[in-house]
Amino acid sequence: MKFFVDTADVAAIRELNDLGMVDGVTTNPSLILKSGRDIIEVTREICAMVSGPVSAEVVATDARTMISEGLALAKIAPNIAIKVPLTWDGLTACKAFASEGRMVNVTLCFSAAQAILAAKAGASFVSPFVGRLDDNNHDGIQLIEDIRTIYDNYGFKTEILAASIRSVNHITDCARIGADVITAPPAVIKAMANHVLTDRGLEQFLKDWGKTGQKIN
Ligand code: G3P
Repeated sequence: MKFFVDTADVAAIRELNDLGMVDGVTTNPSLILKSGRDIIEVTREICAMVSGPVSAEVVATDARTMISEGLALAKIAPNIAIKVPLTWDGLTACKAFASEGRMVNVTLCFSAAQAILAAKAGASFVSPFVGRLDDNNHDGIQLIEDIRTIYDNYGFKTEILAASIRSVNHITDCARIGADVITAPPAVIKAMANHVLTDRGLEQFLKDWGKTGQKIN
């Protein structure tokens, strides 16, 4: 399973990247706003730090302008994945980029029907938003399972990039199903290491070790 970090916070990306935990990065207009930085500048810095795909999202809603914006974003670095929304205009732009061999991440996917269109438009990645479906009393993990089944039925090459990840359980559920990638906030990835029994066991080991009076070197 590939881990993408869902943030434009360069320091947070660097911390996980130094641990070898970063296979790519995803950003979106809201994450760029949160970073407080210029999109081109911060995206360029991320692309220089991370060797994997870095998703940068267009903001136009018509295909022609999406294509123009996407080409401008692609100029930032070779590892840019142009991110387009799952609309007919986004699919049109996706097809244009894919036909030129460019990486495309089709985002804001909320149904299996949408995911089929993304695959047929030649998307490199499709981003089903697990958390936002759950937030609206739908079943985000079930969508990942449905897309995995459909893509495998027809040998679609588009990678399932499970997004809007809210918890460690979302990550392990996606891994169980076989999502190709998860993209999660740095805090959720780091939370994967947490377990109360680990903490309790370590505390007991150290307490017992203290009683031995020994030291290692
Ligand atoms: O960046 C795409 C997606 O991961 C956003 O998730 O947390 O805004 O629902 P979220």
